[in-house]
Amino acid sequence: MGTDEQAILTAADVLAEGKLVAIPTETVYGLAADATNGNAVAGIFEAKGRPHFNPLICHVSDVAMAERYALIDPLSRRLMDAFWPGPLTLVLPLKPDTVIHPLVAAGLDTIALRMPRGVAGKIISALDRPLAAPSANTSGKISATSAPAVEDDLGLKIALILDAGPSEVGLESTIVKVDGDAVQLLRPGGLAAEDIEALIGEKLKRIDQRSAIEAPGMLASHYAPAAGVRLNVHEVREGEALLAFGPARAIGAELAAASLNLSESGNLREAAANLFDFMKRLDGIGSAVIAVEPIPFNGLGEAINDRLVRAAAPRLPSMTVEQIK
Ligand code: TXA
Ligand code: MG
Repeated sequence: MGTDEQAILTAADVLAEGKLVAIPTETVYGLAADATNGNAVAGIFEAKGRPHFNPLICHVSDVAMAERYALIDPLSRRLMDAFWPGPLTLVLPLKPDTVIHPLVAAGLDTIALRMPRGVAGKIISALDRPLAAPSANTSGKISATSAPAVEDDLGLKIALILDAGPSEVGLESTIVKVDGDAVQLLRPGGLAAEDIEALIGEKLKRIDQRSAIEAPGMLASHYAPAAGVRLNVHEVREGEALLAFGPARAIGAELAAASLNLSESGNLREAAANLFDFMKRLDGIGSAVIAVEPIPFNGLGEAINDRLVRAAAPRLPSMTVEQIK
């Protein structure tokens, strides 16, 4: 379904009934449920095959809606004023008597809030309740950045999929948490750390990714394709699928079984927007390995490299991704 006025009202109705709707956001497509309805939220975990202890991001239509559910310190408010609507999620203390179902925050006393751009905000306004929404993909699979990708993966499990074309940013939101005067980066994402640092005039506090229990979605092999992933490739091996970046090719690029370039011109925004779609397409070719050319770490390059490292993380041989989580 498209995203005209009627589609927005239909989506709000379906959500009010406690059903799941896949909604477009500027980052990735979300698998949304009414955040105040425990059964509906449980449906998200069921559809994704996701473990229950993983807290979800709660999407609001504006700062006023955020204020209903969370305690907002002045620095968090500044970040909201500067970057909302947009690809920034803030982790905040939950208000004590909240109507948000405890399953959303997996029992934590904090809540991750985000105001998305585009049609999602209109649906939330029409429903007048926040939406819990992780990325619309089976747990451990690549995040969906288009309606057909959602349909492929979860089509049979969702009441409605709204189609607003490919996601503009293509990477999940950046997650931060204000800690006194400092801002902690819990997950690099679609808003570059530098943009936040320029506003606050200070470096973000980067937590040790390996001990990052605070954002369990940061687990290694969270974004795993079926193929193995080889990073920082300067020399391509015969039969590999090549995920290229920029104008210059790795040695042996012509030996690749298939190749897609994230951005011919080396533009990191363009690369971010293409990342999940291209990974999925290369994975579909059936090569044993996806070889990835080096990608710089500045700007959105940090989040792109973060997702690639997770995609490349070894999976324990005796366990499925589901079991590891
Ligand atoms: O761009 C996005 O953020 C997408 C779109 C749909 O909005 N959503 C998304 O949600 O990526 P999800 O549920 O896949 O990611 C949730 C992340 C996880 O890393 C989770 O651990 C973290 O947010 N998180 C949620 N609540 C938290 C909390 N209270 N404290 C710390 N981390 C939290
Ligand atoms: Mg996800």
